Amino acid sequence: ESYDMGGHDTYMHKEIHEQVDAVDRVLRGRIDDRFSTVHLGGLNLDAREARGVRRVKILGCGSAYHTGLIGAQLIEELARIPADAEPASEFRYRNPVVDPDTLYIAVSQSGETYDTLAAVQELKRKGARVLGVVNVVGSAIARETDGGVYVHAGPEVCVVSTKCFTNTAVAFALLALHLGRIRDLSVADGKRIIAGLRKLPEQIAEVLRGEEEIKKLAAEYANAKSMMFVGRVRGYPVAREASLKLKEVSYVHAEAYPASELKHGPLALIEPEVPTVAVLPDDDLLEKNRATLEEIKARSGRILAVAHREQEKADHTIVVPRNEVELDPILMGIPLQLLAYHTALALGRDIDKPRNLAKSVTVE
Ligand code: AGP
Repeated sequence: ESYDMGGHDTYMHKEIHEQVDAVDRVLRGRIDDRFSTVHLGGLNLDAREARGVRRVKILGCGSAYHTGLIGAQLIEELARIPADAEPASEFRYRNPVVDPDTLYIAVSQSGETYDTLAAVQELKRKGARVLGVVNVVGSAIARETDGGVYVHAGPEVCVVSTKCFTNTAVAFALLALHLGRIRDLSVADGKRIIAGLRKLPEQIAEVLRGEEEIKKLAAEYANAKSMMFVGRVRGYPVAREASLKLKEVSYVHAEAYPASELKHGPLALIEPEVPTVAVLPDDDLLEKNRATLEEIKARSGRILAVAHREQEKADHTIVVPRNEVELDPILMGIPLQLLAYHTALALGRDIDKPRNLAKSVTVE
C-alpha cells in the first residue's frame, strides 16, 4: 500500500478497510496443503526444538499485548503448550525467572517499543530463546530476536492499531498451527484450521459491508458516560482490545472485564448510561454468556452484542460470520474497530492522532 489516502478521510478508516488484503498477504505462500501445516521461513526453530518447548511466554505492550493474549490461547488450543501473555513492561520490571525450556515471543507492530525491546534484551542476556512477531521488517526487535514471523500488515500510519492487530492475530494462528502439527494436532484439525484461515479475507469483507449499520449504532452509544466490554475466554482479549480502541480514539471511558468477573464488583457500575458491549461467540460458553446478559438487563443496562446470531437479551446485535471457533477472536474484533472509529467521528475527535499518544513509544 502507498501512503496516499485512497479516498478515505483518515488513515484509520483506510487501514480498517485494508484488512481484507492484509490478511490475504500474511497467509500468502505459507500454507502447505500436502501436510496440512504452514511454512514459516524465518522461524529458526526446528522440529526437535519445537517439541522441546515446555511453555510459551508472549510479551508486548498495548494492542500488541492483546494479540499476545489471543496468541497464547491459540498456542494452548492448537499446540497444547501452556502459554500466557504479559505486558512487556511488567515483565521486565519484576525480575522474572527465565526458564530454558520456555519459548519467549516478543510482539510489536513497530518493532521499536522500548519496553518490549528492553524485555528482549534482558531475556537474551539470560540466554533465553526469543522469537519476534513483528510488522516492520528490519526493526530493532526483529534484529534482536533469534527468528520469528513477519506480520506483513503493510505500513500502519494511524496511531491506533487496526490492521496490524488483526494480522498479528492471524500470524499467531499460523505459528500455533505450525507448532501444533509438529506436536499433536491431527491432519484433520490442521485441514480444518487452514480452511478457516482461507475464509478470513472474504469474511472480513462481509463484516466491513455492515459498516453503515455500525455507524448508526455508534451514534446511539456515543453519548455513553462509560462503556463496559465483556467476554469469556476467546471473547475476553477481543473485549480488552475493543475497550482500548474506544478509549484511544474517542476518549470515551471504557473498562474491559472477563464476563465472569462482573459480579465480583463491576456490576455496581451498570446503569442505562453505562452500556455493555458483550462478545459472545457461538462456542461452549454461549449459555454462560447469555446468563451474563440477563444479569446486565436486570440492572437496566443497555447491551450491544457481537455474536454469530441475534441475541434476544441484547438491545442490538452485530452478527459476524462463523468460522472455526479457535479463530473467532480474529473476526469478532473487526466490527468493534468500526464502532470505535464511528464513535470518534461522531464526537469530532482527531482520529489519526489522538491526544497524548505516539505511534511507537520508544522511551521508557
Ligand atoms: C494501539 O492502538 C496502540 N496505539 C498501542 O497500544 C500500541 O499497540 C503499543 O504502543 C505497542 O506498539 P508496538 O506494537 O509498535 O510495539
